[in-house]
Amino acid sequence: MSDIFVIKKKVNSFYNKIVRVSGDKSLSIRWVLLASLAKGKSRALNLLYSDDVKASINIIKKLGIKVKLKKDFCEIYGKGLNGYKYKKNITLNAQNSGTLGRLILGLLINSDKKIKIIGDKSLSKRDFKRVADPLRKFGAKLKLTNNKNLPLDILGTKNLKPIKYYEKRGSAQCKSSILFAGLRTEGTTIIKAKKSRDHTELLFKYLKLPISLLKTKNYDLIKIKKAKKIVSFNYHIPSDISSASFFIVLTCLTENSSLTIKNVNINPSRVGIIIILKKMGVKIIFKNKRLYKGELVADIFVKGSKNLKSINCPSSLNASSIDEFLLIFLVAAKAKGISSFKDLSELNQKESPRLKWGSRILNLMGIKNIVTDSSIKIFGNPNLKIKKKIIIKNYLKDHRIFMSSAIAALVFGGEWHLHNKKSINTSFPNFLKILREIQE
Ligand code: S3P
Repeated sequence: MSDIFVIKKKVNSFYNKIVRVSGDKSLSIRWVLLASLAKGKSRALNLLYSDDVKASINIIKKLGIKVKLKKDFCEIYGKGLNGYKYKKNITLNAQNSGTLGRLILGLLINSDKKIKIIGDKSLSKRDFKRVADPLRKFGAKLKLTNNKNLPLDILGTKNLKPIKYYEKRGSAQCKSSILFAGLRTEGTTIIKAKKSRDHTELLFKYLKLPISLLKTKNYDLIKIKKAKKIVSFNYHIPSDISSASFFIVLTCLTENSSLTIKNVNINPSRVGIIIILKKMGVKIIFKNKRLYKGELVADIFVKGSKNLKSINCPSSLNASSIDEFLLIFLVAAKAKGISSFKDLSELNQKESPRLKWGSRILNLMGIKNIVTDSSIKIFGNPNLKIKKKIIIKNYLKDHRIFMSSAIAALVFGGEWHLHNKKSINTSFPNFLKILREIQE
């Protein structure tokens, strides 16, 4: 079957729908890893069944943990903090997932055998030095390809020393990897971290692990000690705001339409896109706000918006919207005036160089933009109507490029040929199904 998806028709206006999107990817991966270290049976509902999460499950299975995967739930039979079985010459495949590849390393720093970590073509281009450097300070040995990439070998030690770590990028993956390593290490590991998503910290707190947190305006000061045990726990994963964002942007760019997305995780460290869109004039409301095991959850209501305004986006919002910029750029393309985004070099460190790709897609759409290694200026055109054929290919199968391009096609028109449809399986296998539901 062809893996090319063709869109020739704009979305029908005048829809008014309620949808649910899949479980949050960050929380799903963290639940799998923590449940694998807990003692006894943990169960998750609404766990995201995407390739990144399946890769996480495969890795813990390879480390000797039993997993029961059913249609409606997943059960993991953890064997406690020291329950992983390190066989000789094992290779763990993180596939496309930076989160999995980096977080698992923190848990392997006490392994007594050498373990090889591999990934797909995209993951093998990404920076693993950023986690290897601090993990070496604990005492683990890591050997990277070209000093930076996968495949890598890790050999842990029983003689771990706590570290002081300054996380300057706003990377939750780096922070979480060190938090996991700190959980295994006698003494107090101290992390000063630039703001980034805090799901790991919230889960540690919920599980009553020895973590302390001091939040200041720009940085968090975190202390973590060796955990004695993790009790098994059930978790109902809320929906993923990054997945919801495709339909939030579709709707805000579709006049006379509205959409409610149920039960979405609106953790303040994830809602940058909502703050940015509101500043640009989009009407968005959180309804039924509630707290679930430390995470904030709500239904998101969004309306098609006219007269969108350009934005000079504060870089303090970058980390909390880091996976949504391709979509935000589409809103800027339709806004009146010039929007600017800065300090975004991290965007080029994702599954593909997304800042470059954002600019490339805007060029194909006929939207003038000026891009550097860390910034972009977008010259909006509220009357944009695309009439030509646009082909999106060779983008390292980056799931967010495929899905953002589909939204652009539905909003601005033209004939789009999107290669690598299967890339959606990385984070959001239901994407096209929900898109059809909205258009029915
Ligand atoms: C994630 C952190 C972010 C994000 C990724 C998921 C996480 O990456 O882009 O999709 O679950 O911790 P960085 O930590 O590299 O910014």
